[in-house]
Amino acid sequence: MASSPQAVEIVADGYEFSGATSRERWRSIWFDPSSDTPLTATGLLDVTATDQALAQAATTMTGIPGFDLGQAEGDPLGAATLVAFSGDGALLVGYDGCQVAACSAGRITISIPAQATETLLTAAGRAARDATLAPVSPVAIPTTSPTPTPSTSTVTPQPDGKVNCRKVKCIALSFDDGPGPYTSKLLTHLKKAKVPATFFMLGQQVETYPKVTRAVAAGGHEIGVHTWDHRMLTRLTDAQAYREIHSSIKIVKQLTGRIPKLLRPPYGETNQAVAAQAKKAKVAQILWDVDTLDWKTRDTKKTVEAALKQTRRGSILLLHDIHSTSVAAVPGIIEGLRKKGYTFVTVGQLLGKTKPGLVYSHGSR
Ligand code: NI
Repeated sequence: MASSPQAVEIVADGYEFSGATSRERWRSIWFDPSSDTPLTATGLLDVTATDQALAQAATTMTGIPGFDLGQAEGDPLGAATLVAFSGDGALLVGYDGCQVAACSAGRITISIPAQATETLLTAAGRAARDATLAPVSPVAIPTTSPTPTPSTSTVTPQPDGKVNCRKVKCIALSFDDGPGPYTSKLLTHLKKAKVPATFFMLGQQVETYPKVTRAVAAGGHEIGVHTWDHRMLTRLTDAQAYREIHSSIKIVKQLTGRIPKLLRPPYGETNQAVAAQAKKAKVAQILWDVDTLDWKTRDTKKTVEAALKQTRRGSILLLHDIHSTSVAAVPGIIEGLRKKGYTFVTVGQLLGKTKPGLVYSHGSR
């Protein structure tokens, strides 16, 4: 979630199944790579001032079943299981499911706006925030990345929505699991190259990064959903699967005014039962035919190579904007594929009219 020579954050995210008291849990782990020591919440924040700010913010949070910060044992910051920053610099203090509210309410996040955090952050806290907003390598390495060469492509990008994929070789870039800390950077790359893309967002990430979500929509990209929290739909009951899909559609609609028409099932795992719930939620299921394995290699060069090697006319490429290495691969992918004569469109443009529930993994060849 954050990375710099002063601060790195890892968030472990889990779900504990136990019937009615099933709960979502998370743990944020901060450390200082320069000294290889852990950073605690009390090292990042002024405890007294933060506790006051949390209590104040909690009074404005209404409509959450059973929510009472008093359940944090008089130590709101100390009891928190997550301390993080949103893409706009707000301080996020999180609690596990069942911890400070009814289990049905899920995890609770208290957000303190960026301007109100100045008096709360210690020097280490400011470094932690900077490491979230502008992540850099935790290791001080000499800059080896070459300056990007200007694109020599002669293919003029088509204006959004005016592409005829029967005449030109259309392909679609898709990005899963975001939005996240690198999504804004990705938007910059896409804007510069005038390439529309399709984002399959997780509801919980949309909730954490509302401004970035709006920026994706405003950038002319297509937004599909990837469920609320990335659980394997084939292992859920029909009602649970529907809720996973519907809740993510709902939050995208609330934030952007757009109703997602496309679902990417997590892990690409689907079956007839999932198809029925997708149909009910009025979304088509979108898989892919080019897996760059970017999430596995975490290697920009290999990601570019995989994309250039496997892409054919009509391809849907799978990438993940939660990895800086994947985002860094995007300019190279665009340049390389344009040289091969491909035109980038959204998944919706590539497929034309889609039927809710049906599975698609590429456009017509
Ligand atoms: Ni995913």
